Amino acid sequence: VNLLRVRKAGILSRHRHPAPVHGFVIRGRWHYLEHDWTAETGSYVFEPPGETHTLTVPEDVPEMITLFHITGAMIYVDADGKVTGFEDVFTKIDMCRRHYAACGLGEEYVEQFIR
Ligand SMILES: [Fe+2]
Repeated sequence: VNLLRVRKAGILSRHRHPAPVHGFVIRGRWHYLEHDWTAETGSYVFEPPGETHTLTVPEDVPEMITLFHITGAMIYVDADGKVTGFEDVFTKIDMCRRHYAACGLGEEYVEQFIR
């Protein structure tokens, strides 16, 4: 479970998931490039496994926060569907280690969140 917070317009790289994703929009508004539907504050979002999508926050939204429940990974793909990278719990933990090391807390700081 994570909170995706975006404070300027932007695009989350084209990706898909091997398992369902559930989301709840807490603030702001966004849409997928692949669909006409717009997620607004209070919207529930379902991303079916295997669907490729590109989350986009428009220019007129100063802040977007969405709670996502992701089980598994994010698999990044290019316009042809070719895999270009991925994120999962292990890459996220590595990212946290680098962050905690860089801010002076030490990379082992992340261990308290792992069981
Ligand atoms: Fe997604």
